[in-house]
Amino acid sequence: MNTRPLRFFHQGQVVQIDEPSSTRSVLQWLREDARCTGTKEGCAEGDCGACTVVLGTLDASGELALQPVNACIQFLPTLDGKALFTVEDLSAAPASLHPVQQSLVACHASQCGFCTPGFVMSLWACYEGHQQAGTVPTRQQLADDLSGNLCRCTGYRPILDAGQQMFQAPAVPLARQPVVEALKSLAQDPPLHTAAGFHAPRCLADFAALRESLPQAKVLAGSTDMGLWVTKQFRDLGELISINEVAELKTVTVAEHHITIGAAASLQSAWQALVADWPTLRDVWLRFASLPIRHAGTMGGNVANGSPIGDSAPALIALGATLVLQRGALQRRMALEDFYVDYMKNRLEPGEFLHSVEVPRPDPAAAAQVRVYKISKRFDCDISAVCAALSLRLDGDRIAAVRLAWGGLAGTVKRAAQAEAALLGQVWNESSLQAAQAALAQDFKPLTDMRASASYRLQVAQNLLRRFWLETRPAKPLTESEVSVWARPEVV
Ligand SMILES: Cc1cc2nc3c(=O)[nH]c(=O)nc-3n(C[C@H](O)[C@H](O)[C@H](O)COP(=O)(O)OP(=O)(O)OC[C@H]3O[C@@H](n4cnc5c(N)ncnc54)[C@H](O)[C@@H]3O)c2cc1C
Ligand code: FES
Ligand code: FES
Repeated sequence: MNTRPLRFFHQGQVVQIDEPSSTRSVLQWLREDARCTGTKEGCAEGDCGACTVVLGTLDASGELALQPVNACIQFLPTLDGKALFTVEDLSAAPASLHPVQQSLVACHASQCGFCTPGFVMSLWACYEGHQQAGTVPTRQQLADDLSGNLCRCTGYRPILDAGQQMFQAPAVPLARQPVVEALKSLAQDPPLHTAAGFHAPRCLADFAALRESLPQAKVLAGSTDMGLWVTKQFRDLGELISINEVAELKTVTVAEHHITIGAAASLQSAWQALVADWPTLRDVWLRFASLPIRHAGTMGGNVANGSPIGDSAPALIALGATLVLQRGALQRRMALEDFYVDYMKNRLEPGEFLHSVEVPRPDPAAAAQVRVYKISKRFDCDISAVCAALSLRLDGDRIAAVRLAWGGLAGTVKRAAQAEAALLGQVWNESSLQAAQAALAQDFKPLTDMRASASYRLQVAQNLLRRFWLETRPAKPLTESEVSVWARPEVV
């Protein structure tokens, strides 16, 4: 493997870094090497958004796609072939403020200012996206776009006001053509291999071969888990094989009977496809981390990492997902519910990797009712204390099929075997609900930790089953406007 320098586009030119460290963060490079100190470090774990920058890549049709990400947990070599934009890039003309910045000033949307560069970049990505599409966001869409940015002194009302006001000024769009040209030229570079042991193959065959020949190397996807192994646990990650440039693994394909989510597809694109088929999953999609984390992170990484409080696994198990695992050219299939063997342990063999996740599409003739409920202390960008993904199909008033998958109740995400047995074949009424609630206490002995006590976890799980019954019972199910704040017109 020939090594070569890392190359990316920044401030109007191609930057070249000869021997980049594999795990130096984009934020460290910006602040300490490039002396672009407008981007701030708050938490160094993807939570606060002070470090938000925007990455530019070419989409399938060769157009520039801009996505906000957290610079604190992105490893520097992942910039290869991309464009990096920071708050220093924004202005309307020399020495004048961009409409995003001007509206933050006009709306008094900044006090100490520490969070402001991050808000500016999230708002700029939103501004650029809507300018391209000729649309303006609703206030709720703005709030979703800012779900990864915390402000601890100004409050969000004036920031949202600024987000609306920025569209009223004369438009100042990014000059895209020079960026597109630079990215096309960077795409001619061979795949990146660095002396420090960072590998970014571009096709599945090369990735599979490298994975097999370097079984000790770690697979790197969006680094929204692995970034924290460095910034919080100070781990040396050794050799890394990035899956992010492997074109075949980045796609989400919707066929007649299945959605196939490539392991390197972003969380955002994966959830978007799931929600198109299962609209009741919308809440958990928007509450999964934040927009920058969903752009960087992958569903494959969420599944492979196997946290017992991860949100994708319960939903995917409830939907009956199958994993495609690959080693070399050989693939095997496994139901996701069989994949986890213990806390953060799975059935991947040395040299093997997760290729894709196959999710059955709803059967129009016998559609199941599906709900995913996430319980966490904060609405946006918080990890679940409990995540319930519940699916049930009725035949008349009897339960013909049921899958109850739970995160936060055991060392792995698991189905509730006894609660399901208590329901299958029964009439879906108050007494079968109560039997399932009692059985749930046999299925799980949850732990107490900083997120929730054992008794809270069990009680909330039993209460979520009740909520599910109220929403799906044959007689008088609660309507969406009775159970979802988002269904109320005054909220959107
Ligand atoms: C601020 C913040 C908020 C978060 N909120 C949530 C949340 O609400 N819900 C939630 O579930 N999670 C959340 N997470 C966790 C994280 O975002 C997810 O787990 C994410 O999906 C991980 O994907 P990634 O692509 O970043 O994986 P990485 O961090 O790159 O990798 C994670 C693990 O998966 C392995 N891996 C990745 N891809 C493959 C593959 N194809 N084959 C084999 N192994 C592979 C890696 O080797 C590593 O062990 C949050 C994280 C942060 C920082
Ligand atoms: S520093 Fe807080 S998200 Fe990066
Ligand atoms: S202005 Fe101080 S944290 Fe937002």
